[in-house]
Amino acid sequence: MTTEFKYEKFFGLDEEQLKCPHTAFEEVRSECPVSRSDGLGFWVVADHENAQKVFRDASVFSTKKMLGEQVSDEWQRMVDMAAQRPGAKDVLGEDYGTSDRKVLLFADPPEHGRHRRLIMGALTPNALKSWAPRIEETADIFVDGIAAGEEVEFVDGFANQYTMTVIADILGFPRDMVPQMLDWTEGFNSMVGNPDQTDEQIEALVDTRYGFDAYCNRQIDDREANPTEDLISRIVKLNAASETPLSRDDLFQVLQLTMVGGSETSATALSKMIEFLGRNPEMWVELKAETDRIPQFMEEMLRMYSPVQGSFRAVTEDIELGGQQLKAGDMLWVGMGTSNRDPKVFDDPDRMDIDRKQLAANHVAFGGGPHVCPGTSLTRMELRMVLEKIITRFSGVELVDQDPAAKKSFNFYGPAALPVRFIS
Ligand code: HEM
Repeated sequence: MTTEFKYEKFFGLDEEQLKCPHTAFEEVRSECPVSRSDGLGFWVVADHENAQKVFRDASVFSTKKMLGEQVSDEWQRMVDMAAQRPGAKDVLGEDYGTSDRKVLLFADPPEHGRHRRLIMGALTPNALKSWAPRIEETADIFVDGIAAGEEVEFVDGFANQYTMTVIADILGFPRDMVPQMLDWTEGFNSMVGNPDQTDEQIEALVDTRYGFDAYCNRQIDDREANPTEDLISRIVKLNAASETPLSRDDLFQVLQLTMVGGSETSATALSKMIEFLGRNPEMWVELKAETDRIPQFMEEMLRMYSPVQGSFRAVTEDIELGGQQLKAGDMLWVGMGTSNRDPKVFDDPDRMDIDRKQLAANHVAFGGGPHVCPGTSLTRMELRMVLEKIITRFSGVELVDQDPAAKKSFNFYGPAALPVRFIS
């Protein structure tokens, strides 16, 4: 017998379910938290306890065999084509295009730990202290650029620009590269899950691949000669000191994952927060009166409207999970958004309550286990600073579109576009 699940429509990118994915998983979460959809061909993990088991065991629940394979199949095609461009190997070295680029989110332990160490040091709360004045200044510049009463498309016109500027500074890319970085990110995001590309689209993606790699190559050369305090310099230094250094190709991939992972996610979170405040003006008033409650508001938003709704894994050995027998080779999708609405962990989970205890420690908006997001402190800092300024400067926000469409994705959750007016 084939069982159909309500969440299948969500994976089929049904507009209503994308806008509100929370009800699609309610039934399975309580009755059958680990379920297999024959239609979709993968398992869905819908509760907090089993999601944590998946996150923690990154060897049995492999990202390398899942997300990494996608890289091989789809991204690798672009790498091969970029490496065949006339002169590419002269510019980028004979090795260019030969690595499988399975790093960070595309790697499993123990290699994964080595890749993490390259970036983690620069992203700890302590290391970020030195970046705080710069991020504060960036938030000021952006918020100063908003005119009260004027319509702004918040997603592209503010959030994407702001978060990419912050990540450009941290990486060590000059700010005038931000438009280019946004284009590259859009290109990289469109490479996966879109097998029906036209020749023209493929050529554009090869441009993205080659352009990004060639640019990073020059940056890495430069930092080897003239190190600074930026993330590229740190990575170059740590990699050179490693017994098993990563190749240039792999380093390009580390930089790509940091740029892509560090921009759209935070921008999506910020946009959803502004949308929520537009619908709930009383919350704006509350936060304006007590700005030190903004961090709690942010955590509750991350829980209720998780910007990354879920992520895939491949099962590497037969294993029991949530009363189900999974087999080596099975695919599963682990739901962060649905786990964050698990009533076993969060009382009355569909209610916004910024006074919840232990919120940051309990929600899984940033995943968990070895792959837990390395950008949590940075995101918390950049979002707090910009929200504080917006809320302090204005008295509210008006949604021009009361029912904005959601991003067409079952991984990223947030408005695709958000026209708004800030009120003086
Ligand atoms: C609200 C903002 C953010 C959210 C919701 C978010 C969410 C996540 C999640 C859920 C994962 C784990 C994915 C999985 O296990 O399959 C992850 C990993 C990752 N994130 Fe974030 N992220 C955010 C911001 C950032 C920032 C600012 C950076 C850059 C500094 C970043 C860089 C990365 C990287 C490189 C990984 C892969 C880590 C690894 O595999 O070890 N993220 N993120």
